Amino acid sequence: MTIVTGATGAMGAAAVEALAAEGRPVLMACRNRAKAESVRSDILTRIPDAQLEIGDLDLSSMESVRRFAESLESGSVSALFNNAGTTNKEFRLTGDGFENTFSVNYFGPWLLTRLLADKMPEGGRIVNMVSLSCRYVRIDTDTLKPDEKTFGQIGNYARSKRALLSFTQELARRYPGLRVNAADPGIVATDLIDLGHWFDPLTDAIFKPFCKTPKSGVRPALRALSTEETNRYFVGKASRPIPRHYLTPDLDVAIWDATEAILSPFRA
Ligand SMILES: NC(=O)c1ccc[n+]([C@@H]2O[C@H](COP(=O)([O-])OP(=O)(O)OC[C@H]3O[C@@H](n4cnc5c(N)ncnc54)[C@H](OP(=O)(O)O)[C@@H]3O)[C@@H](O)[C@H]2O)c1
Repeated sequence: MTIVTGATGAMGAAAVEALAAEGRPVLMACRNRAKAESVRSDILTRIPDAQLEIGDLDLSSMESVRRFAESLESGSVSALFNNAGTTNKEFRLTGDGFENTFSVNYFGPWLLTRLLADKMPEGGRIVNMVSLSCRYVRIDTDTLKPDEKTFGQIGNYARSKRALLSFTQELARRYPGLRVNAADPGIVATDLIDLGHWFDPLTDAIFKPFCKTPKSGVRPALRALSTEETNRYFVGKASRPIPRHYLTPDLDVAIWDATEAILSPFRA
C-alpha cells in the first residue's frame, strides 16, 4: 500500500488518481475526512475498481501522527509520499509548540517517516515533496526553534522545505534498504501558491496560466515512487544527484540529531 499525505490537495489527489490507475492500493492520509471522501468518490467515478482507503492524519499534531502510524500494520506500507504542505501567512504555534508551517512541512513528516521506516519492507519507497524555494535559504539547528521575530511567510516555508531536503539525504544514508528521494514539482497552479493576500485574484489571472498543472507537477514524485534509485532529486523529466548546493552532510547529521531530541517525547 502507498500512503499519500495531503491527498485532498491538488497534487495529492492527482497522485492518488495516477497510482490508482496503475492498480496500486492507496491510503489517503488527510486531516479533513469529508473532503477526502469527496476526492475518493470523484476518483471512483473514473476508476471504479480503485483501492482507496482514508486515514486521519493532522500533521500539526504529533499525537495525530503517532496514532496514524500506530494504526498501520508492520509490512503493510510499501511507499510513503510526504506530499502535504502549507504556508502560513501569520506566525502561529501548534498545540505542541511548533510553528505551524514547520510542523506540517517538516516535524510531522519527519515523525511519520521515522515511525514507519522501520516497518517498511526492503525496497520500500519514501518521497519527500520539496521546493525550488530551498535554493534561497540557509538553515541551521536554530532554524528548528519557532521565532516570531524572524518569521516570514515565504522564508519560513522555504526553510521548512530545506530542512525536509536535509532529512531526505540523511534518511537515505541511514536506511540503505529503502529508496528515499526528494521530488520538486516546479511551480504548480494550486491553492498553495495563493499566499492569502489581497492581490491573489490578480496573480491567479496573470500568473497561474503559466504554471504547471497539478497532474504535471506531481510527475517527478510519481517517478520517485517507482524508482530503484535512492538519495536523488527528481525534477522535470529526470532524476539527478542532489544538487551540489544542498550537499551538507555534517549539517544533515546535526539537524537530524536536533530533530530527534525535539521529537523524542512524541515517539514513546
Ligand atoms: N504548488 C506549488 O507550486 C508547489 C511548489 C513546490 C512544492 N510544493 C509542495 O507540493 C505539496 C502539495 O502542494 P499543493 O500545491 O498540491 O497544495 P494544496 O493543493 O494546497 O495541498 C496541500 C495539502 O496539504 C494538506 N495539509 C495542509 N495542512 C495539513 C495538516 N495540518 N495536516 C495534514 N494535511 C495538511 C491539505 O489538506 P486540506 O485539503 O485539508 O487543506 C492539502 O491536502 C506541498 O508539500 C507543497 O509545499 C508545491
